[in-house]
Amino acid sequence: MRAGELRRAFSSFWAERGHEVRASASLIPHEPSLLFTVAGMVPFMPYFLGEEVPPSRRMTTIQKCVRAGGKHNDLDDIGRTNRHFTFFEMMGNFSFGDYFKAEAVPWAWEFVTEVLGLEPEKLWITVHVSDDEAAEIWRDSVGIPAERIQRLDKDNWWAAGDIGPCGPCSEIFYDLGPEHGGDGGPALGGEDRFIEVWNLVFMQFANDGTGELTPLDAPGIDTGAGLERILAVLQGVPSAWDIDLFAPLLAEAERICGKSYGADSETDVSMRIFADHARATAMLISDGVFPSNEDRGYVLRRIIRRAVRHAWVLGVEEVVMPRLTDIVVDVMGDHYTDLRTNREFISDVVGREEERFRTTLAAGQRILDEAIAKLEGGADGPVLDGSVAFLLHDTHGFPVEVTEEILAERGISLDGAGFAAEMEAQRQRARAGRAGGPTFADERYREILAQFGPTEFIRDASAVSEARVLAAFEIDSAAIEPALLADADEAHGYAYVEVYLDRTPFYAESGGQIGDVGTINGSAGSVEVLDCTYALADLHRHIGRVRGGGVEVGSLVEAQIDDVRRAAIRRNHTGTHILHWALREVLGQHVKQAGSLVAPDRLRFDFSHYDAVTPEQLREIERLANAEIIANGRCRHYETSMDDAQSIGAIAFFGDKYGDVVRVLEAGEHSVELCGGTHVAALGDIGHLRIVSESSIGSNMRRIEAMSGLATVERLADVEDLLGGLAELVNAPADELAGAVRRRLDETKELRRQVRDLQRALASGRATELAEAATDGVVIADLGDLERDALRDLAVSVRDHDGIRAVVLASAPSGGGVALVAAVDPAGTLSAADLLRDAARTVGGGFGAKGDPPLVMAGGRDPEGIGAALDQVRAAALGA
Ligand code: ALA
Repeated sequence: MRAGELRRAFSSFWAERGHEVRASASLIPHEPSLLFTVAGMVPFMPYFLGEEVPPSRRMTTIQKCVRAGGKHNDLDDIGRTNRHFTFFEMMGNFSFGDYFKAEAVPWAWEFVTEVLGLEPEKLWITVHVSDDEAAEIWRDSVGIPAERIQRLDKDNWWAAGDIGPCGPCSEIFYDLGPEHGGDGGPALGGEDRFIEVWNLVFMQFANDGTGELTPLDAPGIDTGAGLERILAVLQGVPSAWDIDLFAPLLAEAERICGKSYGADSETDVSMRIFADHARATAMLISDGVFPSNEDRGYVLRRIIRRAVRHAWVLGVEEVVMPRLTDIVVDVMGDHYTDLRTNREFISDVVGREEERFRTTLAAGQRILDEAIAKLEGGADGPVLDGSVAFLLHDTHGFPVEVTEEILAERGISLDGAGFAAEMEAQRQRARAGRAGGPTFADERYREILAQFGPTEFIRDASAVSEARVLAAFEIDSAAIEPALLADADEAHGYAYVEVYLDRTPFYAESGGQIGDVGTINGSAGSVEVLDCTYALADLHRHIGRVRGGGVEVGSLVEAQIDDVRRAAIRRNHTGTHILHWALREVLGQHVKQAGSLVAPDRLRFDFSHYDAVTPEQLREIERLANAEIIANGRCRHYETSMDDAQSIGAIAFFGDKYGDVVRVLEAGEHSVELCGGTHVAALGDIGHLRIVSESSIGSNMRRIEAMSGLATVERLADVEDLLGGLAELVNAPADELAGAVRRRLDETKELRRQVRDLQRALASGRATELAEAATDGVVIADLGDLERDALRDLAVSVRDHDGIRAVVLASAPSGGGVALVAAVDPAGTLSAADLLRDAARTVGGGFGAKGDPPLVMAGGRDPEGIGAALDQVRAAALGA
């Protein structure tokens, strides 16, 4: 029976017994207390604990498992035993408060003996010391001879971690025969002889993490049957390494080592490590675990490094891991189909990690060799100073585990305490030096870049692209430009994230062109991208608002930009190049771009020029640019060397970074510039380019704002609406607007003249009237709301009548306040200033006249005071 057949036989057996067949869950568990999915029951922990209701009370899976790091850690045994793997498949049938021991035990026996055909006399059973019930079922219901049922303590108790469901278990062992080890059954005999093929856990308790056990309301069954071990028994091979799943991997390992498997025990260990670690690596990367310096990413990094170190010790100089993971995809890809989708991605990630580590190894090994050569043996053998291991770790990135491994192989020990002390001292220094140093975020960005390389920008792809989520960090909304946030955001309490993808159609803001917006859609939810910028050069940061469950790291997503917006940006960007060219044609070649902004609705172009651009020049620039656009020349956007770009006369655009390879945009017949932005295919795509303003932004610095595409069409329509509205106001057809407005203006001028004449005539009539009403040559009057200038003219006219000594007039002009004027006969005895002094105060004002002029004007705030003020004047002038 081969792997595929065994998987099918297992699933059908349990399906026939009412179990819902489920696909394997991810190797990244939802359970936060676990690093990896270490058993088939991990995805079901909430069902055992009664925290969630299972979709069915009987389920069956073939679960991907990794046991490396944490409580279940087989990493150090790999290659040296016949039955440990970092990655393996665990077949399981589960009961959540449904059937229990009485059914699970006979069914397990039926499957093992009847479906798999294992000989009953070669099978042994173990049960927990406390579990009489299970022992009875095996003996009485199944008919196992009592001497082949053994009782164990710790070995027959099972839990996934320090927290969660647990219980006694009962295991089935297969006896390979006396040539594989000592007698005495699994309890006493050798592990290479008695192979555990089946583990039935009777889930009965919940551990709260302190060791305190609470009985579960609904006990259940958790089965773990290791696929690889069962295959080894079925295929009649002594070691699980000899099964069909490993054969192609070991064959590749033989090619890598240039030796046959089985020829040398140490090389065999390396070959098994290649096979095992390649499986774990491929499966983990496919599930979204990437090598890093944190938790599960670090375990993966160690797995990869360990395999690479074995290759390196064997003198293998070429990169080997991608070759091996490729075979894992071939062998496992039929059942775990996402491996095929992720094939290239897996080999990219592991290949990059291997290359980096090989560089580290080469440098570190030299230093270590020198240090070892100087060692002298102590009482307990030679000891390497902790500071050497620290230097290797700190300066050369050489992991301390690798140092320890190399030392162990040569019978040398490490001064662990010395190493730990150096590490602590370094932590202290890092804490002290943090202010002003690189931020945590910078380190994370560098880590992403180191692991995955630059973000691939999909320049010509359609708007939707498939991409993989490499990392996602939640961020505070305060870190987002306020203009990007909708008013409603605060109230909704949306979460915000930065998302990093392996490839993206989103343009990251640079060279004046603003970032794209759009969506990133995954199976769990989506992210509405509000902006895209560079976190580091070549690393696109998608900043967005989380929708639904957001996006999962490692998953494939669809990245989609707002294509209509991008098209408008494209028109304005190529339009900027054409405008730049036209400016230089019209104003001269001294014009240099000093900055730009390319947005969907407008473009802004800052440039050096010594003078204001005249309207005629602007008209000419616009005409030239549009003539070039209408000629509809092709745009060629391509990569070339800097030398080549310079030789064809490309001018550098402000704000872009240029390396040896540059992008050149040839836009139509004349414009050739370096530019990394996005552009139209032919100039006609720009539509109409319209300059909307020109202004100074500093000495010899000018700014032009312009628009293109639909924006100019909309602007034109707005202007036409405006003209239509004006024509209606002056009651003339739009094309006669200018004549009609001119006529209105002439008419207004004539009317103003007539009004002035009339006012004069009126005023002189009034003056005579007032003069005739004088008391002892003094005229005092309130003129209502007469304007200030008219009030003054009137006062002078009245005074010029015969026999008038003084005139004081007041008014409250419609604009507010009070106007007072006093005019006296210069030959008389009254003083204009004296007459007004108190009165001005009474209306809340004063006057600024110096000396004693015959005409004084005053102002005030309070029209209510006019009556009292004029009474004061009267008293002053007439002594009444
Ligand atoms: N969960 C149990 C195990 O892993 C069945 O062995």
